[in-house]
Amino acid sequence: MKIRTGTLTQFKQKGEKFSCLTSYDALTAQIFDLAGIEVLLVGDSAGNVVLGYPTTVPVTLDQMMHFGKAVTDATQSALVVVDMPFGSYEVSSEQALESAIRIMKETGADAVKLEGARADAVKRIVDAGIPVMGHLGFTPQSVNQLSGFKVQGRGDSSEQLLENARALEEAGAFAIVLEMIPASLAERVTSLVRIPTIGIGAGAGCDGQILVWTDIEGLSDRSPKFAKKYLNLREVLSEAATNFREEVRAGSFPTEEQSFS
Ligand code: KIV
Repeated sequence: MKIRTGTLTQFKQKGEKFSCLTSYDALTAQIFDLAGIEVLLVGDSAGNVVLGYPTTVPVTLDQMMHFGKAVTDATQSALVVVDMPFGSYEVSSEQALESAIRIMKETGADAVKLEGARADAVKRIVDAGIPVMGHLGFTPQSVNQLSGFKVQGRGDSSEQLLENARALEEAGAFAIVLEMIPASLAERVTSLVRIPTIGIGAGAGCDGQILVWTDIEGLSDRSPKFAKKYLNLREVLSEAATNFREEVRAGSFPTEEQSFS
C-alpha cells in the first residue's frame, strides 16, 4: 500500500505511531521501504553524512536532485519527502515555489520539506498542489544563527514555537518535524495541531519518529544523544574491509568460485 500524506493523518487520528528514516541512495531506500518504514526523508543531512560537510548549509538544489531521484526510483510504498536545501526558499515565496516545483518534477518525490516558521512559503507551495512538511525546533540550516547544535524551545521561546506550529498547520503543512525540543513541549504541540508531528530528539509524545539512518546503523563514529544505535555497521564494515585486504595479500581471494573459466 502506498503511503500518502493522508495516511499519516489517519495514523494520528487512530493513535498509531509511524516511523521515518532518512535515505540518500537506491539501496538503503529499497531496504527501508521493504522493512515498512512509512516515510523516507531525503534529508539535506546528506551534506553531513554522505558529502562530509560540517553543516547542511553548503548543500545545493542540484545535489538534492541526485539523492532524491535515486530514492524515489527505488521506493514502492513509503512516502518520499525531499528536503529543500538552504538558499532554495528563503528569498521569496516565488523562489520557494520554483524550487519545490523543480524537486517534484526532477525527483518524482511525494512532498518537500522546509525549515523554520515560513508560513508564507508553505502556503504558496501548498496552493500549487505540492504537499509540504514543516520543521521546527533545532533547524540545522540555521545552525550559525542558533550558535551551534542546541536544544530549542526552552523557557519563554516555547510559546513562540507553539504559535509557529499553529501557523504552519494553518498554511497547509501536512506534518511537522520537531527537532531537539523538550519532550513536554513536543507533547503540547502534538495535542495542539491536527497534523502529525514527527520527533527527532523530542521525546516519545510525537505522532511519528525520525532518525538519520547512519545514526541508527552505527555507521558514523559520532552519534547524537537522541539517536539509538541498532547496529554497529562501522565495526562490521571495517572488519569486512580488513578481511578482504588480508585475503588479497595472502592470495586467498579470489578463489575458483569467484573466477571465470
Ligand atoms: O536533513 C535531515 O536529515 C533532517 C532530519 C534531521 C529531520 O532534516
